[in-house]
Amino acid sequence: MSEAPILSDSPPAQRILELLPDPLLLVRADAAGGPEIAYGNQAARALFRIELVGAPLGAALRQPQVLEAIEEALATEQAVEVAFETIGVQPRFWRAFVRPLGEARDDGRELVLMLRDETDAKRTERMRADFLANASHELRTPLASLAGFVETLRTSAREDPPARERFLGIMAEQAGRMARLIDDLLSLSRIELNEHIAPEGTVDIAQTVQDVVDSIRPLTVERGVTIVVEAAAGPFTATGDRDQLVQVVQNLVENAVKYSPATATVRLGLVRAEGPDPARATSREGAVALSLLSPDATADQTYVVLRIADQGRGIARQHLPRLSERFYRVEGQKSGGTGLGLAIVKHIVNRHRGGLLVESAEGQGTTFSVYLPAA
Ligand SMILES: Nc1ncnc2c1ncn2[C@@H]1O[C@H](COP(=O)(O)OP(=O)(O)OP(=O)(O)O)[C@@H](O)[C@H]1O
Ligand SMILES: [Mg+2]
Repeated sequence: MSEAPILSDSPPAQRILELLPDPLLLVRADAAGGPEIAYGNQAARALFRIELVGAPLGAALRQPQVLEAIEEALATEQAVEVAFETIGVQPRFWRAFVRPLGEARDDGRELVLMLRDETDAKRTERMRADFLANASHELRTPLASLAGFVETLRTSAREDPPARERFLGIMAEQAGRMARLIDDLLSLSRIELNEHIAPEGTVDIAQTVQDVVDSIRPLTVERGVTIVVEAAAGPFTATGDRDQLVQVVQNLVENAVKYSPATATVRLGLVRAEGPDPARATSREGAVALSLLSPDATADQTYVVLRIADQGRGIARQHLPRLSERFYRVEGQKSGGTGLGLAIVKHIVNRHRGGLLVESAEGQGTTFSVYLPAA
């Protein structure tokens, strides 16, 4: 903005104010009119984008709470703090600190008004609260069912052995569901704890895929789904943590099998791709593609790409961005899952500095592509 910059021969204190990351205003109030701005640092000028010096404070900040806080600070000669919200394309949460500066003088009084953007902290707080509410809700559902059956077993089903057997079966299933939920939650929190530490080992993804395919054979047999593995020219060695990558492949292949109709085929493709933006390379015609996680690409990074393509009912466009949210499940798909699988996948792939792409065409199927930096 056009206000005179603070020159290098200004007093150090003033240069420091200028460089503070938080917006800071010097406000002058006299008996005649409303408070006026006498100075705004760089951050304030960037925020308000108006000529600050000489402007009425109300021209920069329209929040009555802030103006009241100034009045209060003037009246009481005390520091005042107030939280407020600005609405716009993106609402932001602020905290204003008002401090009277020195003694009252003939030409009025001066106050310092500092703003702190608390939007991120607020968002984290809200996410934590949502997460707790969701997790409790997910645990309460099977628990309520268990409690209900205990009651039934004690009363009406007491002398009815066939009913008792059936109820015990449902109870075992619900207990299993609670156990899976807790395992997944613990797994997610462990992954998040070391998400910033890059993995060090090397993992043969072709071998991992084979191991997973072998391990979920009971599920594929039960569903009548065929799995076909198609590998281009290797090597398919990625830098990574083997156990975590098994979890990634397992979740995605399990989803593909679970959300496929009987007798469908699930294709697992392995290719190598060169950077810098492999997640743009789509593989399914007529599908909506969305990157759930963009890899930290550098121009010369090579990726091992695993594509998991199914012939299921597909996922409607509006659900795609939310797939990797915790507990998110597409309505109407009663899978009995916890909705944590893709959240786990995303966090693991993120730890591996990889990428995750989803492409889906309703009625035709879905392809998930995982990009892992090649070793
Ligand atoms: N291949 C797919 N085809 C169609 N829908 C899918 C596919 N993969 C995931 N989904 C949808 O995305 C939702 C989230 O998947 P996610 O793996 O996170 O959870 P889940 O499979 O329900 O439970 P979990 O994996 O924890 O047992 C699923 O509930 C399902 O609605
Ligand atoms: Mg799943």
